[in-house]
Amino acid sequence: MTSVAQAQPNIALIKYWGKRDHVNNLPAVSSLSVTLESLWTRMSVEFRESGGPDTLQVNEADAPAMLKRVSHCLDLVAGKQRPGADVISESNFPIGAGLASSASAFAALVVAAERELGGVRGPLDLARLAGGSSGSAARSLFGGIVELTAGDKEINVETVCECADWPLEVIVAITAKDPKPVSSGEAMVRGENTSPFYSSWLLKQDDDLRTARRGVVDRDFAKLAAVAEHNCLKMHSVMWTSKPPIVYWNSATLSCLETVRALQSDGLPVFFTMDAGPQVKAVCLPEAAAAVASALENTPGVMGTMQSSLGPGARPVETE
Ligand code: DP6
Repeated sequence: MTSVAQAQPNIALIKYWGKRDHVNNLPAVSSLSVTLESLWTRMSVEFRESGGPDTLQVNEADAPAMLKRVSHCLDLVAGKQRPGADVISESNFPIGAGLASSASAFAALVVAAERELGGVRGPLDLARLAGGSSGSAARSLFGGIVELTAGDKEINVETVCECADWPLEVIVAITAKDPKPVSSGEAMVRGENTSPFYSSWLLKQDDDLRTARRGVVDRDFAKLAAVAEHNCLKMHSVMWTSKPPIVYWNSATLSCLETVRALQSDGLPVFFTMDAGPQVKAVCLPEAAAAVASALENTPGVMGTMQSSLGPGARPVETE
């Protein structure tokens, strides 16, 4: 039997950057994200009767670089004594380029593997397993606006606002398609060890999260926008001041920020956020989406845009 699951990437508005426990991949800080709807990763998992090593295909090509992390994730779900697995992954957006493809991949992987085992673990348990492989993946088990609380021994994850309760739109401006030069995991370690800003980043995270949660509860877009942009720029300040520095942006990233600032000056409800890559994600209210998409599309250096509403958490896909 083969089991298939689908998950969508999520975009953090209050960022996860830094780990408190590297062995169990526990985040140093809590975070808040939106799960997307129209970008997806589908994972199929089949445990073989016979032994042999795991295999992995990503978008129809062998993916040896990713195989170790996939095998580790399967160990977390099925135990180290499990049989070998054949895993196939397919995404409808660029992977490894700062678009949270590892989040959707590991979220889909744990759901597919659990199904293949005939298990009954719910989204929180599966989120904890996915988080053991990629911290941000834990949030893609849930839909809408999602909060991840970082504890000393484990994480908690929950939806704090359903998609229908505050329909936000996300426009992604693609400014480069190459894989990122430094993985987020490696970049975080560098920041923890070398950035003079890392300790102040940790100090204010709970305040930022509280402000963002208030913005969500009150549907106060301006409040959420201000704290999300501030939090994003602080995370990038940690990256920039790491030694050696990590700068994921390119000149088109900055042009997109100027575009968003111009839209804001015109009174449009929109804000930016960027992750471990040069893409810019603009979050806006639905009435602004067409203008935001068109302005970003026409920004120098932008190769294209993708638009998404908020969507559901990872789930099994029925196969024939
Ligand atoms: C910048 O979840 O990719 O997207 O746990 O090492 O796999 P690992 O890191 P990952 O980091 C995501 C970082 C971020 C911010 C965020 O999504 O909160």
